[in-house]
Amino acid sequence: MIKLIDTHAHYDDEAYDKDRDILLKKLFDESVKKVITVGCALDRWEDTLRLAESYEGVYGAVGIHPEDIYGLPEDYLARIEDLAKNPKIVAIGEMGLDYHYENFDREKQIKVFTEQLRLADRLDMPIIIHSRDAAEDTMRILRAEKPKKAVMHCFSGSCETAAEVLSLGLYISFTGVLTFKNAKKAVEACALAPLDRLMLETDCPYMAPVPFRGERCDSSMIMSTAAKMAEIKGVSTEEMIEICNKNAERFFGI
Ligand code: NI
Repeated sequence: MIKLIDTHAHYDDEAYDKDRDILLKKLFDESVKKVITVGCALDRWEDTLRLAESYEGVYGAVGIHPEDIYGLPEDYLARIEDLAKNPKIVAIGEMGLDYHYENFDREKQIKVFTEQLRLADRLDMPIIIHSRDAAEDTMRILRAEKPKKAVMHCFSGSCETAAEVLSLGLYISFTGVLTFKNAKKAVEACALAPLDRLMLETDCPYMAPVPFRGERCDSSMIMSTAAKMAEIKGVSTEEMIEICNKNAERFFGI
């Protein structure tokens, strides 16, 4: 069986504290080729780097998630730039906008998102974008900034948003959400995306696909998301994984 690439995981999460090393060894032995572990907040980057340096197949992304923008030190961009010099750090993110919970600071989210976008572009690094309940502002910023190499992660937006994201040259990546019963929008967006712009991810420990929904997720579960994506695109699961692996390797340079 072909091994898969998980382009977005959070193996620094405390959900793995009890068995992280055992789990990662097992995943690489059995079904996983490469993983990008995403460090979303300043105090997580050390773990991200340690994981990336400890496992041949683990790569890291560092950035500030829109929910982690508070109390940022003034030199946070310089710190990202410094980490990005490490060859195992292959992307900046996740960054973006999240208006899901009340009392978010819209202006500050926009500022931190835009600053990271510009930094990543200057460094010629791939960008991982998070957007939840904020499509309008996200698209306005992307239209204005025109990032060179970016992926919309955990895509669950409308077909119209997907079409615009694709027209701006971005990639679209899907989690286990694609397998959920109520995922009509994600399925439609996936259907219209060209094969060479699709990527697979777990966003683990969250978003476990059916039939694992609600369980702690790990990269091996991508198989279910890949099967669903294959069904939507009319190819075999093996072909789908191969296509997404190639896209991920090209996009992240891994
Ligand atoms: Ni994530």
